[in-house]
Amino acid sequence: MLLTIPERGLVLLIGASGSGKSTFARKHFKTTEIVSSDALRAAVSDDEADQSASADAFQLLHLIVAKRLRRGRLTVVDATNVQAELRRSLLHLTEPGTAPATAIVLNLPVDVCVARNESRPDRRVRREVIEQQTRDLLGSLPGLAQEGFQHVYVLDNPQDIDSASILRQPS
Ligand SMILES: Nc1ncnc2c1ncn2[C@@H]1O[C@H](COP(=O)(O)OP(=O)(O)OP(=O)(O)O)[C@@H](O)[C@H]1O
Ligand SMILES: [Mg+2]
Repeated sequence: MLLTIPERGLVLLIGASGSGKSTFARKHFKTTEIVSSDALRAAVSDDEADQSASADAFQLLHLIVAKRLRRGRLTVVDATNVQAELRRSLLHLTEPGTAPATAIVLNLPVDVCVARNESRPDRRVRREVIEQQTRDLLGSLPGLAQEGFQHVYVLDNPQDIDSASILRQPS
């Protein structure tokens, strides 16, 4: 699937832990284009899994996203983004007409996300957490287009995720 993305816009990756957001981001975007909630948790606490650092991390995330969009830089948010409230606060940082937002949903079955979490070398997220994230994601899907995204791309199997390519469109 070819995913067309305005080159000066905001991209939200949406997916449960283990769906492959960070892997997808690394494959398709420059390091400086990616703003990661985990990396920012680590930036303030030395531990990307430290949930007590989330509020600080998201404050920084919003600040960086806002500053990048003001400069017209493509900005990719690598966080689960499964909660409508968090997506809304990010969409507020875009200016209508100038920084269109794109949603890329990595919608994989819970079992795939859990299996990937179990085999990952670093941090692992519990099944219950992944189940809740997946419920939030599935509940979000029907209304995503109405939230203000210009494009919503839903990739719902590993093959579509692996074969996806990104086309940056001048905006
Ligand atoms: N397309 C893929 N094919 C096979 N394995 C993958 C793929 N994408 C990710 N993985 C593996 O799954 C694990 C989780 O991937 P990744 O860290 O990208 O997920 P994530 O969505 O960023 O999770 P989190 O929300 O916890 O940060 C990693 O071990 C990674 O190597
Ligand atoms: Mg990640």
